[in-house]
Amino acid sequence: MLDYRPHLGVKKTNLTIGGVDAVSLAGEFGTPLYVVDEERIRERYREFRDAFLALYPKIEIKYAYKANTNLAVCSILRDEGCSADVLSEGEIRIALKIGLSPEKIIFTGNNKTHGELELAVDSGVIINVDAIHELERLKRICAEKNKEAMISFRINPGISPDTHPHLSTGLKKSKFGIHEESVLTAYGEALACEHFKIKGIHMHIGSQITKTSPYEEATAKLFDIVGGLKDRLGVELEFVDLGGGLGIRYDRENQYITPKDLASALIPIVRDKIEEYSLKEPLLYFEPGRYIVGDSTIMLTKVSTIKKTPFKKFIGTDAGFHVFPRPVIYGAYHEALVANRMGQEDTEVVDIAGNVCESGDILAVDRSLPVIEEDDIIAFLDAGAYCFVMASQYNSRPRPAEVLVKSGSYELIRERESLEDILEKEIIPERFLS
Ligand code: LLP
Repeated sequence: MLDYRPHLGVKKTNLTIGGVDAVSLAGEFGTPLYVVDEERIRERYREFRDAFLALYPKIEIKYAYKANTNLAVCSILRDEGCSADVLSEGEIRIALKIGLSPEKIIFTGNNKTHGELELAVDSGVIINVDAIHELERLKRICAEKNKEAMISFRINPGISPDTHPHLSTGLKKSKFGIHEESVLTAYGEALACEHFKIKGIHMHIGSQITKTSPYEEATAKLFDIVGGLKDRLGVELEFVDLGGGLGIRYDRENQYITPKDLASALIPIVRDKIEEYSLKEPLLYFEPGRYIVGDSTIMLTKVSTIKKTPFKKFIGTDAGFHVFPRPVIYGAYHEALVANRMGQEDTEVVDIAGNVCESGDILAVDRSLPVIEEDDIIAFLDAGAYCFVMASQYNSRPRPAEVLVKSGSYELIRERESLEDILEKEIIPERFLS
């Protein structure tokens, strides 16, 4: 199972990541622990970029910060020349903090707050408008400040990406974007306003997509809209943002496509449409999150109590869905390995149980693994995207530490929280203190 994850390996009986012994890291930094491989992030970013650059010269990759906003992770990608797709005030500030220039940042989010829109205008990031009402709100802000905003519109292409229902964002009934029927009105209103500089158009149809066909359909549809905007309103767009969503290989069975597959499916469509509508070659933006950071990271957890019932054997660990949420929220599969028993035969079928006081807190079901003992270290793979960022302090448990490894060396990139961190913002009213 390690063959398609080249950053993972085995030394004697132990799992390694980026050439570093995962079991020693668990010993040194404690568990639960997230371990991120820097080179793997760089590799995946370059793979994605180069697959498209080979077929189309004007490509910009905007890493989707929501997948993982650790400052070191974002800095690695900035160092690679990657720009950012952000969705909140916090993410705008993170992107600016690590030194990205505002025009490299696209702010996509639905229900943006007044404060977020103000910050976006003040800082000069591209604002990807999600609704006509949002455009009106933005107009008021720009008028008050007498400032210009660079904008694009998120379009809802009404397409099913064939993924988990919670991960489909471009369905006709989903809450995101502007529907085809309202596109001309939206751009028309923007054109008529002196405060807006129209830069582009955007879509994002969903996440963990494992086929090219939904992208093909949506891309053709988006470019027809781009052509319509040129013909009907005379608007020529600088960029067309095709969003993120490329799935990764969580297990050997799951279907997957590579950036190369996606590029060879989409670029011919883009070229045809450019010709059909006599468009100037737009910049193409992509917003991958999961593909770039997903498999870079493992989550290490220590075995505590082992329980055998007449029905199941439960391996209890010191991580629950508050630390590692995807299995519970989406029923997602993440490969689990016993990091200190690599190479041992799988002889037992077990469930790996989290330590949250809820019966749904099972991190892995019916897994064949070697016989596991107390204090063994379990590694959950592909924990780089939507894992730490969705962790919480539920059950009053501090969030884990994060470590970055690079070709045999390692460093801490986030300290483990403490109970003090959890309680820091709480206030006991005076009357309870006497
Ligand atoms: N662009 C936009 C506008 C998005 O909403 C997203 C993800 C992306 C890009 C990046 O998509 P990616 O390449 O990472 O698939 N928490 C869920 C995933 C939610 C994705 C939300 N939007 C999970 O754990 O699977």
